[in-house]
Amino acid sequence: MADDVQTAPKLREALRGIPAYRPGKIPDASAFKLSSNENPYPPLPGVLEKVQQSCENFNRYPDMGVSLLSAEIAERFGVPVEHVATGTGSVGVAQQLLQATSGPADEVIYAWRSFEAYPIITQISGATSIKVPLTADERHDLDAMADAVTERTRLIFVCNPNNPTGAAITKDELVRFLDRVPGDVLVVIDEAYKEFVRDPEVPDGVELYRDRPNVAVLRTFSKAYGLAGLRVGFAIAHEPVADALRATAVPFGVNSLAQVAAVESLRAEEALLERCEALVQERTRVLAALREQGWTVPSSEANFVWLRLGERTVDFAAKAEAAGVVVRPFAGEGARITIGEVEANDIFLRVAAEFAD
Ligand SMILES: Cc1ncc(COP(=O)(O)O)c(C=O)c1O
Repeated sequence: MADDVQTAPKLREALRGIPAYRPGKIPDASAFKLSSNENPYPPLPGVLEKVQQSCENFNRYPDMGVSLLSAEIAERFGVPVEHVATGTGSVGVAQQLLQATSGPADEVIYAWRSFEAYPIITQISGATSIKVPLTADERHDLDAMADAVTERTRLIFVCNPNNPTGAAITKDELVRFLDRVPGDVLVVIDEAYKEFVRDPEVPDGVELYRDRPNVAVLRTFSKAYGLAGLRVGFAIAHEPVADALRATAVPFGVNSLAQVAAVESLRAEEALLERCEALVQERTRVLAALREQGWTVPSSEANFVWLRLGERTVDFAAKAEAAGVVVRPFAGEGARITIGEVEANDIFLRVAAEFAD
């Protein structure tokens, strides 16, 4: 046995003080969960049956190349299959993008506040986060983000629409930004909520990546497709980046049930679009009601709304929970509330009405 049994294993210095990812609180059985931007619907038609059938084979490893799913994604989005790379949720793919591009002495730029995994996975990579504050109207400040680019910048996250504010940037704004970013900096357009976007000015990242080798688009099956628990997401990127994602993937990371469910969900697009439309209509209703109550609330292109409550945030979340809905508070800043079942949205609106005056 070594002499120094008392000393702990040496961990990487970069991990010191790493912020913990806080999952949306799990409510008790009687409350609605509006804290994780999940889809309130059951699996799309046919998905559960296929997954149940495939359960019989889970003594076997999954298809390591995720070939069937990648081919379906390529066909659905009209891109070469070599441009598709899958991972364990889009957050898994985002982490691989960092592994592929960034390390100590490098810089990663993103808006703040934005998706709370960005600072965590950036810190794990060893790179430095450069957080660019949102504008007063809760949107990315793309000019400031372009100004923040230095020789050290390796990757920029653009979250469109932004989590947690719901605000989206337009095609003109994004193109102008992309034109300013050097070609050796990877821009990751994170479109986790793309299926809920209705503003025609908001671009489809998949169109923008086509003639830009330094752009990658992140998509997920967790939100609109309702597969959050199965953990599967993907990137569409030019071959060098997609190859790097395959090289950094955990072998067999995308499990067999997730692969089957994602393929089947892509094939149920009609039902998917109907569900998204119903949630968008609820979003419209909720936003109108909030404004009627006197709230200043940013337009949302995602499946959630954002209330900038400042010091009242934690109190609001507690009152919402007591009333039967669990929301996502960011203490001192605001609360993000997922659009869920009509009944849940109504409870949230009642709590908001009490808070408005
Ligand atoms: C902007 C954004 N990107 C990525 C993700 C990660 O989703 P998943 O890893 O489930 O695909 C989320 C989830 O909340 C998100 O809000």
